[in-house]
Amino acid sequence: MEAFVAILVDTLNSMIQKERGLLCGVATDMEKLARLLSTIKAVLEDAEQKQFTDKAIQLWFQELNGVAYEIDDVLDDYAAEASRIKYKNSGCFSLMCYSVAGNLVFRHRIGTRMKEILEKFNAIADERIKLGLSDQKRGSYFNASRETGSTVNEPEVLGREEEKKQIVRILTKEKDRVDQNVSVLPIVGVGGLGKTTLAQLVFSDKCITEHFELKLWVWVSEDFDVKRIIKVLIESVEKTSIGDLALNILQGKLQELLRGKRYLIVLDDVWNENPEEWEKLKSVLECGSKGSSIVTTTRMEKVATIMGTLETHRLSSLSENECWSLFSQRAFGRQEAEEYPNLVVIGKEIVKKCGGVPLAAKALGGFLRFKREENEWNSVKCSEIWNLPEDETRILPALRLSYLNLPVDLRGCFAYCAVFRKGSKIEKEEVIHLWMANGLISSNETMEVEDVGDAVVTELHHRSLFQAVEKDEFGHVLIFKMHDLVHDLARSVMEAKHGGTESNRSTRLMVAFHITSAGIDQFSSFLSKCGS
Ligand SMILES: Nc1ncnc2c1ncn2[C@@H]1O[C@H](COP(=O)(O)OP(=O)(O)O)[C@@H](O)[C@H]1O
Ligand SMILES: [Mg+2]
Repeated sequence: MEAFVAILVDTLNSMIQKERGLLCGVATDMEKLARLLSTIKAVLEDAEQKQFTDKAIQLWFQELNGVAYEIDDVLDDYAAEASRIKYKNSGCFSLMCYSVAGNLVFRHRIGTRMKEILEKFNAIADERIKLGLSDQKRGSYFNASRETGSTVNEPEVLGREEEKKQIVRILTKEKDRVDQNVSVLPIVGVGGLGKTTLAQLVFSDKCITEHFELKLWVWVSEDFDVKRIIKVLIESVEKTSIGDLALNILQGKLQELLRGKRYLIVLDDVWNENPEEWEKLKSVLECGSKGSSIVTTTRMEKVATIMGTLETHRLSSLSENECWSLFSQRAFGRQEAEEYPNLVVIGKEIVKKCGGVPLAAKALGGFLRFKREENEWNSVKCSEIWNLPEDETRILPALRLSYLNLPVDLRGCFAYCAVFRKGSKIEKEEVIHLWMANGLISSNETMEVEDVGDAVVTELHHRSLFQAVEKDEFGHVLIFKMHDLVHDLARSVMEAKHGGTESNRSTRLMVAFHITSAGIDQFSSFLSKCGS
């Protein structure tokens, strides 16, 4: 929204300057509008933060969105008309002389619409005061002086040694569960607590590898589609993709592969609460030899109750010390935290708010990385977001904060990533091209557009919003993923901004301008403003 309004203001201003003659009569309204837009733009950051807690502000946002869209339309219209007039007049008359009926009609029409919009806009601007929105300022990402160089590598997994051993012991011990063909061990805990990580530790443990003949991993997520799960299982045994086969054929095929083998299957991130769906899958899996095991991770106790045959493992929170070390590794990089004793004191308070959730500690540390002012740290510590009930959305307050703390220029890039499928691997090159195509990044005085894209990926990685899947020899991210909670966050931002649709208005605006604009130079000045 902020970027969109910024573009509108710029467009209005450049129109007013360039086309004064053509606009006479409308210019003053346009100027008023530009001024109003600027006032509103100044409080958007505040509004964006508060919309999560405040329904009234959410509505205000939606109204603003609607009117911004109308302005966009008028500008569109105007641009089309302007180019038509210019075209007609090329070489003959100066624009100032153009005063025939057509122009009058056009001016009248655009003038009326402008007045209507102004009225609505005035109301929105007034409301801003009632809602108590303020214009706090934050610097732009590319202009802010930033520390460079030291990349923090993923820290090693902390504090899970005991739990891993315990689970390995249960899975490899057979005498207690001879009556079962397959046992299911659920790991339960809130999002970001480290369920997947613990399951990965177990999965790659030496004793486990030696004990099981076959190990398979499926990331299940919200969509518990039995056919898809069976297909993924078959494909990971056969290591090639298979076409679209009927369910009963797939079932038979999987049973052939599993029959008589002692297998371990991890069903990661299960949400399904329907026992029948689980029975459908379970009946197919019941053909392994004794001792075959399924480990499932889930946020929901109910899921564990439906699936579990072994006792549920309730994942413990990390200790405050462990969270502190995750947090401080990110917040201070390789610098000694001791250089900033004042920040350490505040940081320890912030870490308490992470509730032992490593993802929260990492995300908070990540965005304080380049901040060294005490008040910046304090504002995180005292942020209103901590008062929200946990279950209102699935998004951790820490993650929401790390979005809100993103420089404006990066927010659009981040939210855009909601278009990727959840859990998918995203190639850096691809996302940079998409950002470019959607006008979310562009070159500036010192950097080519690809380098800007590169910097954005690096920054989002530093802030723990992207997780590296593959790096090049210099440690630069080549392929990354978003944690499922982070994906939820991106999607919620998208939806809040665009009222449930995924259309990108600033893109629309630019595309419209590209086609109808009176001059290509206007378009390019546009682009440069969006990116810098
Ligand atoms: N014990 C740990 N030590 C360090 N980092 C961890 C630990 N557990 C999880 N993480 C990190 O926290 C994030 C969330 O972990 P994940 O296992 O995906 O959580 P969940 O599956 O419970 O949502 C990941 O980035 C992971 O690398
Ligand atoms: Mg997980």
